[in-house]
Amino acid sequence: MQSLMQAGAAAAPETVAESDTGFLWDFWYPALRSTEVRGNGLATAMLLEVPLVLGRTSDGKAFAMRDSCPHRGIPLSYGRFDGKTLECSYHGWKFEACTGQCVEIPSLTSQDKLKVERIFAGHYPCEERDGYFWVYMNSHGSRLPETIAAAPKLTTFSEKYRITHLACELPSHVDQGIIGLMDPAHGPFVHQSWYWRRRHSIHEKEKKFEPIPNGFRMSPHTPSSNSAPYRMLQKYTGEPVTTTIDFVLPNIRTEEIRSGKLWFSSRATVAPVRRDLCRIDFVAAWNLLLPVTIFRIFAKKFLRQDQETMILQAEGLKHNPRLMLIDDADRPAKWYFGLKANLLDSRRTGAAMVHPMSGPVTLHWRS
Ligand code: FES
Ligand SMILES: [Fe+2]
Repeated sequence: MQSLMQAGAAAAPETVAESDTGFLWDFWYPALRSTEVRGNGLATAMLLEVPLVLGRTSDGKAFAMRDSCPHRGIPLSYGRFDGKTLECSYHGWKFEACTGQCVEIPSLTSQDKLKVERIFAGHYPCEERDGYFWVYMNSHGSRLPETIAAAPKLTTFSEKYRITHLACELPSHVDQGIIGLMDPAHGPFVHQSWYWRRRHSIHEKEKKFEPIPNGFRMSPHTPSSNSAPYRMLQKYTGEPVTTTIDFVLPNIRTEEIRSGKLWFSSRATVAPVRRDLCRIDFVAAWNLLLPVTIFRIFAKKFLRQDQETMILQAEGLKHNPRLMLIDDADRPAKWYFGLKANLLDSRRTGAAMVHPMSGPVTLHWRS
């Protein structure tokens, strides 16, 4: 049973032990698209099994509060927001949206000694970037460390570009979503199509990887010769095409493709919603002569293929089967689990994080 708080105590949002859920706390995660919040409207989202209510103050500052009133737990999203404070629908307590600080308890009389300003609703740092509300999922509740990293930002290489966003939910733990994202071997089976690649085009590949802080990089390379779009790009610019793919904790895969003045930059993140649900948020920008509508048709199809596969996989995972990670095709997945474990170790011991890779590595697989 939840204990009732003593009047006057500051509310700290309860947190779930990291080991229980396999979530990585103390990182930025995209909660929802910027377009989902208009005017004084409120929107809800869930990250790491924490219900959130999000909005924008009248001076444009994004905020994220735990969607639960510290008084009796009713979701604050049922309340009213006036551009500055959020009023709970149950007893009308008012909270300053960005700090979560209580500013008014209507039932109090002049006799009451309760220090309203010492009551806080759960709240999290929140920033808008690249068309998303990013929320820093702080494991210490309302007490923040002195400095936190800036929210991620998509790299772009010219002033003018096109940009588009896509999302897709997967009925699985974030770990499965992430290793699915970095898995090279499913391409010829899940993503076969006449314009991209055929199953018989499978061939041996050699890729170089190097450690980077909190992650790894597929060293700049000339992309797969069995992908038509890359061949077309090379023909168009007459310059070599290079691709750099990075993965960094907790969940970010970025890909930059450049050829002469032309570029394409994308980021996929896998947000842990609940332990049995995650969401891929994909944003891409480019200055190629590629209409957004055409790109979306292909990108949607790609994501749908992954989603359908992971729905089928979830069916099997319900029964807790033993799983395998094989070399070399699953080595990136092993690095991911290594990075995660070592990060948690370093947070626990206070020692510097040990990188699971000791240096550059060349991997071989067929895809
Ligand atoms: S439950 Fe929110 S004010 Fe009472
Ligand atoms: Fe895929």
